[in-house]
Amino acid sequence: AGAALTIDPDFAVGEPNPRLFGSFVEHLGRCVHTGLHEPDHPAARPDGLRQDVLDLVRELGVTLVRYPGGNFVSGYRWEDGVGPVGDRPRRLDPAWRSVETNEFGLNEFMRFTEAAGVEPMMALNLGTRGPQEARELLEYCNHPGGTAWSDLRRAHGVPDPHGIRLWCLGNEMDGPWQMGHKTAEEYGRVAAETARLMRMTDPDLTLVACGSSNSSMPTFGSWEATVLEHAYEHVDHISCHAYYEESDGDVDSFLASAQDMEHFIRSVVATCDHVRAVRRSPKELELSFDEWNVWYRRLRDPEAEPRWEVAPRLLEDHYTVTDAVVVGSLLVTLLRHCDRVTVACLAQLVNAIAPIRTEPGGPAWRQTTFHPFADAARWGRGRVLRVEPRSDRHATAQHGEVDLLHCTAVQQEDDAVVLLAVNRATDRPLDLVADVRALGETRVVEHRALADADRHARNSALHPDRVSPRAVPGAAVRDGALTAQLPPLSWNVLRLH
Ligand code: AHR
Repeated sequence: AGAALTIDPDFAVGEPNPRLFGSFVEHLGRCVHTGLHEPDHPAARPDGLRQDVLDLVRELGVTLVRYPGGNFVSGYRWEDGVGPVGDRPRRLDPAWRSVETNEFGLNEFMRFTEAAGVEPMMALNLGTRGPQEARELLEYCNHPGGTAWSDLRRAHGVPDPHGIRLWCLGNEMDGPWQMGHKTAEEYGRVAAETARLMRMTDPDLTLVACGSSNSSMPTFGSWEATVLEHAYEHVDHISCHAYYEESDGDVDSFLASAQDMEHFIRSVVATCDHVRAVRRSPKELELSFDEWNVWYRRLRDPEAEPRWEVAPRLLEDHYTVTDAVVVGSLLVTLLRHCDRVTVACLAQLVNAIAPIRTEPGGPAWRQTTFHPFADAARWGRGRVLRVEPRSDRHATAQHGEVDLLHCTAVQQEDDAVVLLAVNRATDRPLDLVADVRALGETRVVEHRALADADRHARNSALHPDRVSPRAVPGAAVRDGALTAQLPPLSWNVLRLH
């Protein structure tokens, strides 16, 4: 099979915002407890954070972490998670039918963000609570002192304000599963009023309104339009969430999941721009794709639903090579839309549908999906170039005809160009030819790929590096043409300099 493209730095999409490489920590299963935080673990720091996990978070290259949910946040009282740990209440979490000990809360999370070198993205409970509690949380976090809420933070051992800039106005409020679920009208008003109140307290905020929970929601499109009729002038972003899984053995459709993400982004951009035109607004809204990943939701056995345990094993998806290639293709799509998608979060970070897995008292390791994310976070900086790849195509049941090649090119600050590319063909390599004359003198520095003869291969505690990227020989530049062979079903990083 063959593929061709032209790489020319004269044609750029834009400069990706570092916030595109975010992730997500929810009080869900073992993401926090025995994931990030495990005071009794041999690798625990004095504050209870696992150093082995922190090291992997840094290696992953995550820039931003959304917290504390997710479905969890829509019933959460943030006050339960601050103050002396011994005084914190244990509460039922109806979202995940778990018991939350609250041993880890806001200030512990902020310590994690410092230790991991990431920006916090704080989600508000607009399900069972409203603008007043949201504003009080903001005052606790960001006001220097001299008021009850800010002095409470100081009494809790945090003299300086946290200075949290990025806030989500609720979570998936369009979803009937959400605690405090709302209609678009109801939510649009609450989002607008919460945003106004927040900005009256601290004008220097970036606010994200809830968009659709996935592109199959019955309200997809109309939800965004109605919410933005109320909230357009008060917010900066609208959110998108999407999870993909292989079903009924239809691997070709699964590998083409980025087509749905593409449709999602284009539709939401169009809706934002429609509202903008109607309102004659000078402001252009940005997209926050603040939950995306592969998630095998259909494998959830209702009989195995948790029953009010602390940190149950929940959503611990064990990712394959195929899943990693899909994650890579979703990263390519986010980069290709970096002019409008300026925040994105791989959901989630540890244990629950996550690139990092841990065992309580045991090791931490990289899932297959860790690798494409780490590559994109490392090389998706600088300028995303506009490339129009042409390749052999094949038919898929869910997405029609799709290209076998899905790729983007990124010009780094030092002018090196990195091609991030996926071969969606499971049974054949893809012979790639790229016209790189516009790059002048250049050569291949590296071609690495994540691929495996067994598309179901995974990493585990026993075999943590069973699947990891390997060098691919043969790529070269001659007479202004790059030639390379992308292995069957692979995620590829091709660096030119
Ligand atoms: O990330 C898992 C869950 O998926 C989140 O809690 C929710 O927002 C989404 O439905």
